[in-house]
Amino acid sequence: MTNAFEAGFRLDGKVALITGAAAGIGQAIAALFAAQGARLVMLDLSGDVRRAAEDLPGDHLAIACDVADLAQIQAAVDRAVEKYGTIDILVNNAGVALLDKAADVREQEWDTTMAVNLKAPFFLSQAVARIMAKKGEGRIVNLASQASVVALDRHVAYCSSKAGLVSMTEVLAIEWAGSGITVNAISPTVVETALGKKAWAGETGAAMKRKIPVGRFAQPEEIASAVLYLVSEHARIMTGANVVIDGGYTVQ
Ligand SMILES: NC(=O)c1ccc[n+]([C@@H]2O[C@H](COP(=O)([O-])OP(=O)(O)OC[C@H]3O[C@@H](n4cnc5c(N)ncnc54)[C@H](O)[C@@H]3O)[C@@H](O)[C@H]2O)c1
Repeated sequence: MTNAFEAGFRLDGKVALITGAAAGIGQAIAALFAAQGARLVMLDLSGDVRRAAEDLPGDHLAIACDVADLAQIQAAVDRAVEKYGTIDILVNNAGVALLDKAADVREQEWDTTMAVNLKAPFFLSQAVARIMAKKGEGRIVNLASQASVVALDRHVAYCSSKAGLVSMTEVLAIEWAGSGITVNAISPTVVETALGKKAWAGETGAAMKRKIPVGRFAQPEEIASAVLYLVSEHARIMTGANVVIDGGYTVQ
């Protein structure tokens, strides 16, 4: 039998929409939420999202779509509501890291970064908050990055998008607090996913690890646990926060 503390982390009956759920951190969040009893709406650019959903316990909705396309976002939200009747939790996790020296960044890299990392979380939040506000309850978590609070070489578009995402989180938190919707951000250091391994390969990664006080990168499951806390009953008072999970990197 679960005690009240453990019960506070259960998501039975909750509907959670997670973007970028086919791989990396999003897949780890999906696995943890499914284990806690949630019904998932898993969005990803990759068709692999269908197999990722089938691999989980329970019956979940997988939608292959581009979150940077507002029509596709709205269609996905409509399908979720048609299947489950509501959305209780939104995790804006899909993101891209197109890295270049500031002098070399091209318009398309800048626009794609902003479209996926900043525009998509905003318009998905807007679409889902309309549903949450009617119920007077909802949880939104945005995957930002340590790049939202510190400068990183070759990350000018990425850092700008993640700092913007944290700022957006703060504004939504104050505007929607009265509707019972909490909005928080999580800012990890390097996480060992496809995105993290590509950005921090070789000597760049080894040098970065030496600068992180705990001496290692994070695992996707360590980020998923914090997301679960933020959407749980235990975090009802928490909104507008940027939870930094970085092994001590940014406090130096
Ligand atoms: N890995 C890291 O080091 C790290 C560190 C800090 C923050 N983050 C952030 O965490 C989030 C997840 O990163 P990850 O490391 O798991 O990345 P990942 O590349 O391993 O997985 C991201 C997933 O998002 C999907 N995706 C990308 N663009 C999309 C789009 N336009 N529409 C729908 N889906 C799309 C990809 O197909 C992929 O399945 C991102 O927002 C990233 O910026 C990652």
